[in-house]
Amino acid sequence: MANRILFVCLGNICRSPAAEAVLRKQNPHLEIDSAGTSRWHTGEPPYAPMQTAARQRGVDLSSLRARQFGVNDFTAFDLILVMDAQNRKDVEALRPAGNTTPVRLFTEFATASPHDHVPDPYYTRDFDGCLDLIEDAAADLSAAVAEI
Ligand code: 4NP
Repeated sequence: MANRILFVCLGNICRSPAAEAVLRKQNPHLEIDSAGTSRWHTGEPPYAPMQTAARQRGVDLSSLRARQFGVNDFTAFDLILVMDAQNRKDVEALRPAGNTTPVRLFTEFATASPHDHVPDPYYTRDFDGCLDLIEDAAADLSAAVAEI
């Protein structure tokens, strides 16, 4: 069972903190965190328009702070979920020799909304569409988490 789940995106201010908070709301017993492959926004709260869109669905992002993904995350978590193929490349580039922690695309779980990545709302400005996809994927992940 994956008890410790890390979400990873580029900035850690839009997609991965939203995924972290949505999954935590559905699964308060799991250890869940998020990180960015970049250090551009380290220490910052989630992007204000994402906080606003999430708050409208009852998801509070205000206490979260961005941090950069690091090599220790491969041992601190049982499952690493990335938002797109570039995140996956950037994460895999840091994998220590011998480490086998699974790194999977979060959208693998979004069976109701077929997507091969979570489009970045920092660029698309579609914060609600992003949250719809995250909520779908998180619901399926919640159902599957005991088997992973
Ligand atoms: P995220 O979105 O990876 O979902 O947090 C981004 C946020 C900020 C930037 C890029 C992506 N940025 O270029 O600052």
